[in-house]
Amino acid sequence: MEKILAPSILAGNHANLNHALKIAEVDGRKWIHLDIMDGHFVPNLSFGPQTVADLRKESGLFFDVHLMLDNPHLYVNAFHEAGADLITIHIEPSYDHLEAIKHIKSLGKKVGIALNPGTSVDDIYKVINAVSVDLVLCMTVNPGFGGQSFIYDILKKVEVLAKHRDNTANNFMIEVDGGVGFEHIQPCLNAGVDIFVAGTAYYKGSDSERREFAQAVGEKF
Ligand code: DX5
Ligand code: ZN
Repeated sequence: MEKILAPSILAGNHANLNHALKIAEVDGRKWIHLDIMDGHFVPNLSFGPQTVADLRKESGLFFDVHLMLDNPHLYVNAFHEAGADLITIHIEPSYDHLEAIKHIKSLGKKVGIALNPGTSVDDIYKVINAVSVDLVLCMTVNPGFGGQSFIYDILKKVEVLAKHRDNTANNFMIEVDGGVGFEHIQPCLNAGVDIFVAGTAYYKGSDSERREFAQAVGEKF
């Protein structure tokens, strides 16, 4: 499976998110990770469909949209229309997960299911064994803010998922998201990670630090 570094523009300058997109494009990135937060499911607010729609007009990058919402199913159409390429919804809130996944697929979008650090892989089997998903997102921080520390324990969850994927007809990508730095790349690759979301490690350093990070990550792939 292709390995991808997906910058998280949450860590970009919110007065000019288009600049964060351009940095990723110039750097040769293929994906961009967009964190949508409602202040309920997570204790933070970020941006909404209008921002995504305006960024969509500026870029051809693959928009990996991460819905950290209490009611993600109510916003699928809005982010579909805004131009998301992949819509990831969390397993923790109580809504009809299967229905929401089927709806995202019916719109021709790729779909992901996300687990917080405290959520067991067992909680998603009923979903991923009933309908195929394109991505499983294993949060490596408690969601809501960039710049937190990577939780290594999650790699055990990734290994279990990778084994499940190999032993069944699934072929979802596995994504890690939160606190990812260069030192985590190899352990994540060993565990079976495909998509690496990085906000702080990608955007918060100097241009040369960012290029070094992306280059070093690329060499690992
Ligand atoms: C956290 C978000 C992550 C975050 C990653 O709730 O889902 O995507 O922006 O940023 P860093 O890499 O800074 O932890
Ligand atoms: Zn995210």
